[in-house]
Amino acid sequence: MARKSSSAAALPELPVVQVAPEATQGGSRESRLSALAARVAQCQRCQELASTRTQTVFGVGSPNAKVMFIGEAPGADEDATGEPFVGRAGQLLTKIIVACGWTREEIYICNILRCRPPGNRAPSLVEARHCREYLDGQIAIIQPEYIVCWGTTAAQNLLGSEETIGKMRGRFFSHGKAKVLCTYHPSYLLRNPEAKKPVWEDMKLLLADMGLTPPTP
Ligand code: URA
Repeated sequence: MARKSSSAAALPELPVVQVAPEATQGGSRESRLSALAARVAQCQRCQELASTRTQTVFGVGSPNAKVMFIGEAPGADEDATGEPFVGRAGQLLTKIIVACGWTREEIYICNILRCRPPGNRAPSLVEARHCREYLDGQIAIIQPEYIVCWGTTAAQNLLGSEETIGKMRGRFFSHGKAKVLCTYHPSYLLRNPEAKKPVWEDMKLLLADMGLTPPTP
């Protein structure tokens, strides 16, 4: 009789990802994002996250952004303000955005999760799966030409990969119609400033592919 391998038996049962109706319905990008955000604000799929969050953190930026940034999950500052990447890592991300010649308002910033995991632990596979409908919905509505995955959690979850971020950075992947670049998370850069150089190389690769050059400082 066939037996289940022990590794297969150890995998958690993952929820099925639904398709957000807001992704396919009519209306402006703004109104569809607002409708999706309103549904996210009521989400109770992850009991622990729903019962410990101050609020959901949906995403900010232009509904017409060419570039979407995806991080891991809200931290304490994001949970308090409702906006992604506003804490120390967020301030560093904003510096990177400005160094590229952009403003935060012209790109779109969101996360794999829309709720803060208690103690800033890493998102579980089940939590990421629960939130995937919302991420896919945001991508489908905004239709970015480029996606930057900041850190391992974003890169592995978006692309369904188990590669380390060190192996994934420095080249383009694709996700639907978007070109995807993966690089180190700004929190990692705060702890390992020597990783700023490869991140800047990644940003220059992105800009060059877009036909842009960074402004001279
Ligand atoms: N880290 C993330 O990955 N996302 C945020 O929004 C804040 C910190």
